[in-house]
Amino acid sequence: MAKAVKTYTVAIPSEAEVAARVEGLLGRLSLEEKIGQLTQIAGVPFFPGPEPAEIIRKGGAGSVLWLNDTQQFNALQKIAVEESPSKIPLLFALDVIHGYRTIFPVPLAMASSWDPSVAERAQTVAAKEARAAGLHWTFGPMLDIARDARWGRIVEGAGEDPCLGAAMAFAQVRGFQGPSVGTPDHVVACAKHFAGYGAADGGRDYDPVYLPETRLRNVYFPPFQAAVKAGVGTFMSAYMDLNDVPASGNRFLLHDVLRGEWGFQGFVVSDAMAVGNLVIEGFARDGRDAALRALRAGMNMDMASGTFSQHLAGLVEDGTLKLADIEAAVRPILAIKVRMGLFEHPYTDESKLGQVLAQPEHRQEARLAAQRSMVLLRNEGGLLPLAKSLKNVAVIGPLADSMEATEGSWMVFGHTPAAVTILAGLRARLPEAQVTFAPGPEIRREIVSFFDDMMPGANKKPVQTPEQAETAFQTAVTTARAADVIVMVLGENADMAGEAASRASLDLPGRQEELLKAVVALGKPVVLVLLNGRPLSISWAAENVPAILEAWEPGSEGGPAIADILFGDANPGGKLPVTFPRKGGHVPLYYARDSSHQPEDHPMYRSRYWDGPTTPLYPFGFGLSYTTFSITNLKVATSQVKLGGPVSVTAEVTNTGRLVGDEVVQLYIHQKAGSDSRPMRELKGFERLTLKPSETKTVRFLLGPAELGYWSTNAGKWVQEAEAFDVWVGADSTATLHAGFEVVS
Ligand code: NOJ
Repeated sequence: MAKAVKTYTVAIPSEAEVAARVEGLLGRLSLEEKIGQLTQIAGVPFFPGPEPAEIIRKGGAGSVLWLNDTQQFNALQKIAVEESPSKIPLLFALDVIHGYRTIFPVPLAMASSWDPSVAERAQTVAAKEARAAGLHWTFGPMLDIARDARWGRIVEGAGEDPCLGAAMAFAQVRGFQGPSVGTPDHVVACAKHFAGYGAADGGRDYDPVYLPETRLRNVYFPPFQAAVKAGVGTFMSAYMDLNDVPASGNRFLLHDVLRGEWGFQGFVVSDAMAVGNLVIEGFARDGRDAALRALRAGMNMDMASGTFSQHLAGLVEDGTLKLADIEAAVRPILAIKVRMGLFEHPYTDESKLGQVLAQPEHRQEARLAAQRSMVLLRNEGGLLPLAKSLKNVAVIGPLADSMEATEGSWMVFGHTPAAVTILAGLRARLPEAQVTFAPGPEIRREIVSFFDDMMPGANKKPVQTPEQAETAFQTAVTTARAADVIVMVLGENADMAGEAASRASLDLPGRQEELLKAVVALGKPVVLVLLNGRPLSISWAAENVPAILEAWEPGSEGGPAIADILFGDANPGGKLPVTFPRKGGHVPLYYARDSSHQPEDHPMYRSRYWDGPTTPLYPFGFGLSYTTFSITNLKVATSQVKLGGPVSVTAEVTNTGRLVGDEVVQLYIHQKAGSDSRPMRELKGFERLTLKPSETKTVRFLLGPAELGYWSTNAGKWVQEAEAFDVWVGADSTATLHAGFEVVS
């Protein structure tokens, strides 16, 4: 056990105290310094212009991002609190998305656990490490619903569903922040990207989004509203146009909904350069107009575009904006600094860092999170778990020994990957066996990421020639031929999902499927472990590879966690938070669709596409276990429930197999008629349970107005209607155990 680190205690001030201190601070700031508080600058020289220290010394910045260096934090903070005119401390911010030094599974994977406590614990550890390093604020959680797997950023969120997404949102905010902003050893969270970013046209990153209000409110908003309920301190506006109004200049989003309807009290930061981008997007006439429209829409802080710092003072001086407009924007920023205790403790004790980062208990949490996130997609003939007595195993594939792919997308700025790879994890688990390895042909993006341009040395490995690739292919097949069991590790490199990492196809990149076919043709037992940040179209594998484990990008402890699952030391219990389509051309594909006049069980259903079924390869909510479960005895407490009243639904789940295991019991509803058509199914509750063999547990769900109401296009408001409902309870979104009830007025 690591020694406990002594932390200072901060008495979290009351609302009234915070407000009084903020007014006191405001009173001593000049207009320029107030605008400085609305300005976030890059801590590294990405852009030409004055040095960060110079800007800070003049009071020109309230926050610094893209810096990850404790010494530098202290140095810049010293300038802010000792040399700047009004001595306001800086907020240091960074993208700590799934871990700081101890890397957890990517958020899409954590959502696969269907266990919000996994995400909460992960973000608690991430916050503790980040705070120890001197960070105060993370740009997470990312709460964008994503139903189009081409979109690279699907990896950063909780998948396609608002109910699961809201649960993960709440848990992550609590993990990062603790019960309130200012909790020691925690950081401020940022709900991003508000809103609709995941619905980019064609899945192309940053492209415009068209979402009717019903979709926004019923599907895309719930995770954000859950973040507000959890007390999130900040929001980030999205990059793209939403219904022709850029999210960063969108008063409906930033003011009417966020503050007006949800009562959000924190502050909104733009995405990087997004205020300046209002001009490129053909919305604002020029920088001055962009600053004006962003501020008026409800933006508090300009991330890195410099537009606020260039234009706001002029706008006040010529009377277009009032000083009060600027002060209103500054208040919540100062309030967060007060709550975080930055005035009392602006610096970070560098000597303590080593006692906090990557502690064994953090790595243990990461391993558990990875185990709980994995989804067993296929296990024909009970090939898994493998016997520990195996003597000769081949590990094949370009990702099997890749630390980057194991840790996954969105590594912390400046972080060096240090994951235990799958190869290392398997070798450690089978010390007596021969574990051979061949990567096969390399995989890489056809167009490099702009992040690579910014990071010197990144992705500069020479491209394999076709001849080298062919040799690597043949070596992999030969290596596989000599083994008793083959573990293929395929999927996507870390840079193939994430920001600016969308793709048109969902196939396994490069020659991976060809290699898989060649290895399967050897006639030996093959286990496919997928490392990827998005659903892939793996139709061939789904029919021809006996065992498939979706391991996502499992983080620092990915290798040991995968070994735990493959050898049965942990029983997989994760479920897909996103539909797996059969082909890339099927996206967006998600379960909660309205019925067409030819639903999937209709005799004419074949008319949807003529080149294959459009049903998912794996449905939302799907995942297997090494044991089996039955879900029975569905009971709705009353066949009629009064409008506004709750209805209780129970079902029994029994472990019918021979091993301890987890089942995620899921409840779906359908409102059969109403002001609007409603989706054929909507998830309204879930619970992950551990059961011993033969054990039965009763699961109880409560459906109230929040679950049974919706935003109606026809009514133009939230409604709950006296109508008939279907309810299903089961192990995935195709559950057949059915009951019904009626809501009556
Ligand atoms: C751009 C990304 O869209 C956003 O998610 C991130 O937080 C900022 N850059 C800061 O790195």
